Amino acid sequence: TPPPPPGPLEFGGTKLVNDAEHPFMDPKDTDIRGPCPALNTLANHGYINRNGIDTPSNIVRAAMEGFNMHNNLAKFTCYSAFVVNGNMVTDLLSIGEKSAKTGPDPPQPAIVGGLNTHNVFEGDSSMTRADFYDNGDVESFNETLFQGFIEYSYRFGGGRYNLTAAGEYRLKRTLDGIQNNPTFTIASPRLFSAYSESVNPINLWVDGRQDDGQLRLDHARSFFEAARFPDDFHRPARPMTADNEEVVLAAHPIEPGGNINGVNTYTVDPNSPRLPDKCSIYEHHVNYTLRTLYPNPTGNLLDAIRANVHYFYTSVQERGCTEIYPYGRV
Ligand code: HEM
Ligand code: MG
Repeated sequence: TPPPPPGPLEFGGTKLVNDAEHPFMDPKDTDIRGPCPALNTLANHGYINRNGIDTPSNIVRAAMEGFNMHNNLAKFTCYSAFVVNGNMVTDLLSIGEKSAKTGPDPPQPAIVGGLNTHNVFEGDSSMTRADFYDNGDVESFNETLFQGFIEYSYRFGGGRYNLTAAGEYRLKRTLDGIQNNPTFTIASPRLFSAYSESVNPINLWVDGRQDDGQLRLDHARSFFEAARFPDDFHRPARPMTADNEEVVLAAHPIEPGGNINGVNTYTVDPNSPRLPDKCSIYEHHVNYTLRTLYPNPTGNLLDAIRANVHYFYTSVQERGCTEIYPYGRV
């Protein structure tokens, strides 16, 4: 079975992370990059494999080490994406497109398509990437969208990206989708990633010596576009969760749902868990999204699924969630 993810950092304070041991290097043509600007940054600095293929435990370690992402948030994000997008038998994930480098595929309907796969984790209303419906490219930095991010940071954040700007820009991107994308959805699993990604730049990209929740826009561009730590960047001052996503939600409470019959037909999905309910989000992701891809696994695959589903569970254990065993217990 795959190795467990690491626990919390021993030293959880701020420190220089754009250091001599982790120089920025442009990716080679054969290196894979994807829709997550933070993972692209970690790959460009060698915190994860520069080829863009790595193990979930190493990605958790890198998210903590490079960005001081809280151990529980790192595990929640990484394992929810890994189980649906990675190869659980070889324990490898592509941070972008599907790749033969993750090893032989398990039986369909499993996809193992890497982080670019639409609607099993990646989803609509990203801040700087287009919707799948727009042109199928969910991964490339989009300057037009980034100009919207800048505009909202000036209008609502005084020239910085902060929680006020995040609340307004999340609503804008949601309305963009409702009005222009007939396939628009932000039901689970997209709901939790959308809101967490709205606050990650505030929590994880503000230099730990600054530590004021106000992201500089030149730093935002450095991460979103160049996937590069700013010079002298120090990671946050303490391990950071995404708990302040509820401030963003409260600014414009939007229930999970999607367009059901063309544009402007947004309808709340009563079966989708709500954002604050992390236990239900974990359960829904395992019971629906994952089981749709892996209805009847056997052998090594079954063992690996059980192990990874358990690692995912450990991310919500401290919230008092009950562990579920849809694939049986060992
Ligand atoms: C977006 C995965 C860690 C910040 C994404 C997306 C994926 C992803 C699949 C695309 C979703 C979408 O926008 O449709 C992961 C995984 C992680 C991880 C597996 C492992 C722990 C992080 C960290 C940060 C971060 C540490 C911040 C330091 C972001 C942001 C976006 C994003 C800001 C939104 C990009 C946009 O909307 O334009 N991530 N991520 N992620 N991620 Fe990550
Ligand atoms: Mg997206």
